[in-house]
Amino acid sequence: MSTPTPPDWRSANRALWDERVPLHVAGDFYDLEGFRAGAEALRDFELAEVGDVTGKTLLHLQCHIGTDTMSWARHGAARVVGLDFSGPAVRAARELAAEIGLSPERADFVEADMYDAPAAVPDEAYDIVYTGVGALCWLPDIERWARTAASLLAPGGFLYLAEFHPLTDVLDDETGTRVVRDYFARGAQVEEAPGTYADLGAQTVDNRSVEWQHPLGDVVSALASAGLRLEFLHEHDASLFPRFASFERSADGYYRFPDTHARIPLMYSLRASKP
Ligand SMILES: C[S@@+](CC[C@H](N)C(=O)[O-])C[C@H]1O[C@@H](n2cnc3c(N)ncnc32)[C@H](O)[C@@H]1O
Repeated sequence: MSTPTPPDWRSANRALWDERVPLHVAGDFYDLEGFRAGAEALRDFELAEVGDVTGKTLLHLQCHIGTDTMSWARHGAARVVGLDFSGPAVRAARELAAEIGLSPERADFVEADMYDAPAAVPDEAYDIVYTGVGALCWLPDIERWARTAASLLAPGGFLYLAEFHPLTDVLDDETGTRVVRDYFARGAQVEEAPGTYADLGAQTVDNRSVEWQHPLGDVVSALASAGLRLEFLHEHDASLFPRFASFERSADGYYRFPDTHARIPLMYSLRASKP
């Protein structure tokens, strides 16, 4: 249900994420054993679109347990910093970094709210600011997000964002063929749901979430207002998880509608640079 922002939005969301971190660390979804052994955590389109990161500095906003953050270091970034407001997530990321031999100089992790990032991160600016899927829906103010991210970019640097497409939020969960929710609903969406995308049946107690839907136009306009120049905006016909009951898993590991379903964008990615 779309409502005014509840005053406890941050503490409710943080409690939810804090509880889910140990489930993600122990479960198969993030496959930490494979990650420790060198498995790739990033998606192929992200690697292609971000390009060569050798020698660059990279800040990952809302880094969760840091697998994506550390993967950029494995691809040659000189220094990566991950930021997340969940203490357990940051501690898990630090432990993982130590286990795979990344020193705090190479991979540093900071516990802070995204909006407080400029005061919390150890460096003034970064060559790349990266944000991965499932992040923007936890933030109430997309213009403030864009201003904050832009302020952390070095001149000539770029922001790279990969996200689920907001069009998928408006369709019915079973077939994805009917529009059942408002694309332009900008109020807080408060829900109570146990489990996690990484373990749907997990028993959890901190189940209250407060999320926001951000129309694509709002995201792009916010980046433009923050002084960034859009280099590309790609829409993808594939998703990372079975968002709709009718999705089928393709040979490339992504999920898509069956061929009988007209295609719509399921994820998007963009790059925006600081002049
Ligand atoms: C779905 S996860 C991101 C997933 C990430 N792309 C990955 O696959 O590892 C969302 C993350 O955002 C963090 N988060 C949510 N709201 C936040 C906020 N206001 N400030 C900082 N981090 C936040 C959560 O703690 C969680 O780790």
